Amino acid sequence: MTSEGNEIPLRSPDDEIPEPSVADPAPPCALVIFGALGDLTKRKLLPALYNLASGNLLPDRFAIVGVGRDPLDDAAFRDRLAADLPKFATSEIEPSRGEGLLAKLAFVAGDFSDPELYRRLAERLAALDAERRMDGNVLFYLAIPPSFFGEVVARLGEAGLLKEEGAKWRRVVVEKPFGRDLASARELNRAISAGIGEDQIFRIDHYLGKETVQNILAFRFANGIFEPIWNRRYIDHVQITVAESDGIGSRGITYEESGALRDIVQNHMFQVLALVAMEPPISFAANAVRDERVKVLQAIHPFAPGEVLTSVVRGQYGEGTIAGDRVPAYRSEAKVSPASEVETFVALKLTLDNWRWADVPFYLRTGKRLARRATEVAIQFKRAPFVLFRDTPVDKLKPNLLVLHIQPEEGISLRFEGKVPGPSLRLGTVRMAFEYADYFGSAPTTGYETLLYDAMTGDSTLFLRSDMVEAGWQAVTPILDVWKAIPARNFPNYGAGSAGPREADELIERDGRKWRSLARPTAKP
Ligand code: BG6
Repeated sequence: MTSEGNEIPLRSPDDEIPEPSVADPAPPCALVIFGALGDLTKRKLLPALYNLASGNLLPDRFAIVGVGRDPLDDAAFRDRLAADLPKFATSEIEPSRGEGLLAKLAFVAGDFSDPELYRRLAERLAALDAERRMDGNVLFYLAIPPSFFGEVVARLGEAGLLKEEGAKWRRVVVEKPFGRDLASARELNRAISAGIGEDQIFRIDHYLGKETVQNILAFRFANGIFEPIWNRRYIDHVQITVAESDGIGSRGITYEESGALRDIVQNHMFQVLALVAMEPPISFAANAVRDERVKVLQAIHPFAPGEVLTSVVRGQYGEGTIAGDRVPAYRSEAKVSPASEVETFVALKLTLDNWRWADVPFYLRTGKRLARRATEVAIQFKRAPFVLFRDTPVDKLKPNLLVLHIQPEEGISLRFEGKVPGPSLRLGTVRMAFEYADYFGSAPTTGYETLLYDAMTGDSTLFLRSDMVEAGWQAVTPILDVWKAIPARNFPNYGAGSAGPREADELIERDGRKWRSLARPTAKP
């Protein structure tokens, strides 16, 4: 931004500001949320539905049916969500819009393992369909613990609720975690797919709902200049970081069962990796894109046990200071064992066994309670091969760096060398940056809007197929096995507010490289 007005520096009169994207409302349907009284519904799903309603993307012929154990009626359910909506909405609620959405709510109470619940649900759906003419379409959203997935799908099937006929569709959205290792993921896939076709299953990874993550595809495949250099000839290495400054909050029980490798690496980071490293798909049809994404995960070079020890680092935070506040160690968090060996940090180096990426290291790191929140992909190019600048030795030239800033900064930046003004030819590193907000404004979203809309319209591009989930687990299972056999003996090994354990630095420095800084304030390339 310039200091005068809202102009973007160097914008030419030829540049067009893109029009906001418009789409038709989703087709008539009922959205049935299992676990409707849980956190996800109030924090993400309802605010996302409100945002969709504001963008005229919800159908008029629509119903939201909550399913949960508490014996609520429709009115009580509406009252609860009416109180939650303003708390979690991403923008001010426009009263008539909010009331319009809440009027679509209904509730069916019962136990997920009781067939009677499904009989009542079927009756309720039939009645709502008769009233609202939703063409029999239903999207079931399982915002419940994974231990219920198989059973709920089986009972829905027994009650005839998953049967598609003609144009009438039935789909099931499944939240993570999808298994806890390869064997359990396979078992879950088997249990779910016993009652339903793969094209009816929508496995969510909420990272794929982020605009900045989806933009990786647009950036790579809608531009002619990047793809030719997007390979081992020009790229030295890639760093993918998902750093969080928050701890685990009230999630002690679930986090003790997962740890950072399962919680972030196997799903969110691998999905970002797949978008960064995939081959161009033959079209943007869902399966064409998913075919290419899964190939990346299948190409991850398997970790032999010895490699787990040298190429993977785990960490757990001790107490420390973040943004001036003292915060406790992981082992002192609520519902966490004081002797916990669960990792809150992972750094690893992997390679992909394919022609495009052979020998190009991908360094991944994620952690809780790090110095700052930053999710980004940094692509470091090889150095210029030869230096014309007498006073600058080649190893002093900073390599070009392209950074895809996913959050909280949203944009793309490119680092390159320029001449420092003055009589001598001196080089300085400069940065060219695109920020989303400059071009597209910054309407906050929950990240679930696109995913809900896509599930309603039947576009599965941004969802995970069973083979993708299994390929992700296949890659991390050797790490889990070694960690299980050799417990961490040095936990806690990084202080809250730091950039992670020293071993993570050593991992990358052994290769003559360095992590991007996580120091506050926000580091620019
Ligand atoms: C979730 C993890 O899937 O993603 C959390 O379970 C993590 O541990 C969260 O904090 C991060 O999501 P986001 O969108 O805030 O980066």
